[in-house]
Order: sequence, then structure tokens, then C-alpha cells
Amino acid sequence: MNDMSAIALTAETETAQKKVFIRTYGCQMNVYDSTRMEAILAGEGYAQAAAPEEADLVILNTCHIREKAAEKVYSELGKIRAMKREREGAGRDMVIAVAGCVAQAEGEEIAKRAKGVDLVFGPQTFHRLPEYLARHRETGRTVVETEFPAEEKFKALTAKASPGTAVAAFLTVQEGCDKFCSFCVVPYTRGAEFSRPMAQVLAEARGLAGRGVREVTLLGQNVNAYRGEADGGTASLARLVTELSSVPGIERIRYTTSHPRDMSDDLIAAHAENQKLMPYLHLPVQAGSNRILKAMNRGHTAEEYLDLLAKVRAARPDIAISGDFIVGFPGETEAEFEETMALVRTVGYASAFSFKYSPRPGTPAAERPDQLPEDVKLDRLHRLQALLLDQQQAFNRSCVGGTFPVLLEKPGRRDGQMIGRSPYLQSVHIEIPEGGPGFGALVECRIEGVGPNSLSGQYVRQTA
Ligand code: 5AD
Ligand code: SF4
Repeated sequence: MNDMSAIALTAETETAQKKVFIRTYGCQMNVYDSTRMEAILAGEGYAQAAAPEEADLVILNTCHIREKAAEKVYSELGKIRAMKREREGAGRDMVIAVAGCVAQAEGEEIAKRAKGVDLVFGPQTFHRLPEYLARHRETGRTVVETEFPAEEKFKALTAKASPGTAVAAFLTVQEGCDKFCSFCVVPYTRGAEFSRPMAQVLAEARGLAGRGVREVTLLGQNVNAYRGEADGGTASLARLVTELSSVPGIERIRYTTSHPRDMSDDLIAAHAENQKLMPYLHLPVQAGSNRILKAMNRGHTAEEYLDLLAKVRAARPDIAISGDFIVGFPGETEAEFEETMALVRTVGYASAFSFKYSPRPGTPAAERPDQLPEDVKLDRLHRLQALLLDQQQAFNRSCVGGTFPVLLEKPGRRDGQMIGRSPYLQSVHIEIPEGGPGFGALVECRIEGVGPNSLSGQYVRQTA
């Protein structure tokens, strides 16, 4: 082959290669789902596009948890549609897909409200993406799919490897929710609780470890309610963690998000016994007032939550606690909001997420007549966030002087610097000596400084 034909061939392959651009909104499970869609599409010949205007297929993987999240999607769809028109003007097609929870919740509405959308499918059917693309190609019609075949999805996904070269990866083990907190859309958009069989999860973890992953975060809307089929019965999350910790290459295990009611004794004991299970627990409480917790249908009191944390801390004294909070739930009084502040002061959070209550269509709380004004919600949010930020900074400062194992994940800004993660999920900037360890290494690091969102420290030695 002479040089000319080599050039011609490259050019031809480049034009023939289809490209996909996926924009992900919302939670870590959506991040996981997007990586799985990439894997499915890679099997169909799609490469990843760096920007939506370069893509033959643009997927918005959406979140419906709060109003703003859904509104962002509609405004993004307007922009993507303009790109689609421009591409069409140049004789190139662009397929626009809306996936995820907004797609599940709004279905046909999306196609009506945002013109130019070709595919709409919920989080439980993205494994059928190639079929949807083919159907759209053949009929030219918008394809809308909002079924819930969770079991079928995970079976289909297990056959496709996740791509990527990351050191830390997400792995969905459980999906959906039966709790029906009165403010939340998840039971409607993600469906009923479903756990993947343990063997399926372990197979995926082995595959990840084979590709260099050393830290897995097990995902589920109610991950500690995990009950995966195993040995003719079911396995708890604690059992799954135990099995995972003997997968060669997996050095660290995390899980999120948990519900206080499913925080079982065996899982608490795992925090004491299993050194691969990281000392970090995201355990949302949402509010500190028992009347509000009841109205939220949380199924636990503030005292029960605090008792639980005391047990967890007794098992693993250095555990970092994280949480989610909602302020301004319908009818919340100033005194009830102060109970949330008091609970936060009692717990001392290492990090947390806090939100203004946002009425979600179809949820019981959205129907309540005692909705609070925006300015009240905003004022409470600011006060809570100031307190949580103080606590986060205090926690980070308390790490200075300590020596922690850090998993090296990516290069830092400066030469010789790398960014890793502490056991408590903080980013750590480390100076690595020349010829020192690279990505995927676990190193001991002496923490010397604290920035707004990260720690910095000195390399001590490599441990794994
Ligand atoms: N309004 C505000 N925040 C919400 N969340 C869930 N639903 C709503 C809502 N309607 C928050 C909760 C949950 C997190 C993922 O999002 O705090 O734990
Ligand atoms: Fe939503 Fe409550 Fe289920 Fe969490 S436990 S997903 S907040 S309904």
C-alpha cells in the first residue's frame, strides 16, 4: 500500500465513523448509565464526540429530582435543536435523544414541548438503544419508550463491558425505590426496588478490576436495601461487600445512597471489620423535626437517626458522615427548621447536600396547600448551607497533620503533582517524587494543607 491510499483510507474511515455526545445530569447513577450507553453504542460503531455539534447522536441523560434540573434540559434542547438545523443545512443528520428520569416522567410531553427530539426513553430501557435507533431510521418517527424491564436491562448490560481507563468506577447494584418519601419522584421514575443478582455484580467488578479499576462505588437509590439473588437465597449489601473485597485488584469499596431504615447491623459491623470498606457514609436524614419527618413519610425519627449514627461511629470511630437535607418542606415552621440546624450541629457532617423543597408533579407533598414562599426557603437554605460549609471546613482542617492512604487518580495542575482521593472522599493534591508511583497506586500521604475543596500533602510511601 502506498502513502496516498493510506491517507485516502483514513479520511474514509473518519467520515464513516458515527459519533455520539452524551450530556449527563443529576446523580451518580445517571453517570453510570451514561457510561453503559457509551459501551452499547461503541458496539454499534459510535465513537465519542468532543462537542454536541460534532455528533450524529446527542443524548441528554436527564434528572427529574428538582424542578431546575428539568428546566435545564428544556433549555439545552433548544440549543441542540439549533445545532441540528445547522448540521441539516450542511447535509448531515443529527438524532436527538432524551434519556433518564425526565424522559420517564414526561414521555410524549417532551416530544410535544421540544420539537426535533427523535428518541425518548427512560432509565430502564436504554439497553434497547440500538433497536430505537433502527426504528427511528426506518420510520422517521419519534420513538417514545417508558417501560420498566429492570431485570432484562441488567442482563443485557452484563454482556457489554464498560469502557474507560479510570481507577475508580461506579457499579449499579440496586435500582428503584419502594419508600415513597412524599416529596420524591424516584419511585415513579426509577420504579420499584430491584437488586441485581450477586454473581452478576461480582462479574462486573472482576471486569472492572481487569481494566485497572481499584475503587468501586456501589450505587443504588436505596443501596443498603440490596437483596441480590445468591446461592438460592438472597445476599445483603454487607455480604456483597465481603465478596467484593476478595476480588483481586479491588482495594476500596464505597456505597451510596443509603436509607436509615435499611442500615442493618451486619452492614455496620462490616465498617468495623472490613478494611476495604471506606470510612464514609452518606446517610440522608432530610430534616431534623419529627413532625416534618413524618409528613415526609421517612419512616424514622430524628432520635432514631442519631442512635444509628452512634452505632456506626462506635463500629468505625473515624467514619465521615454525609447527608442530604431539604429545607422549606410544606408547612415547615421556623422552629422546625431550627430543629434541622440543631441536628446538624449534633452530628457534625464532613460534607452534605442541601436543597430547597421543590414541588414535583405527581408526588403527595406537591398537592399540599401549605407551600412556603420562595424567600423563606431561600433564607433557610443559606443558613443551613453556611453551617454545613463551616462543618466541612472544620472536618478538612482536622485532617491536617494526619497520614492517610490516598488512591492516585489523575495528574495535577503542576508537573510532578497528582490528584488522589482520601478514604473520606476528599481530593488530595500530592507532590510525587520523580520515578514515583502513577495512577492506580495507593500511597500514604501526610496531609499538610487545606484548600476550599481539597487537601494537599506530601508523599510518604507506596502501599499497594
Ligand atoms: N425537592 C428538593 N429536594 C429533593 N430531593 C429529592 N426530592 C426533592 C424535592 N422534591 C433531594 C433529597 C434527596 C436528594 C437526592 O435530592 O434530599 O436525598
Ligand atoms: Fe426518594 Fe425517599 Fe426513595 Fe430516597 S428513599 S429515592 S428520597 S423516595
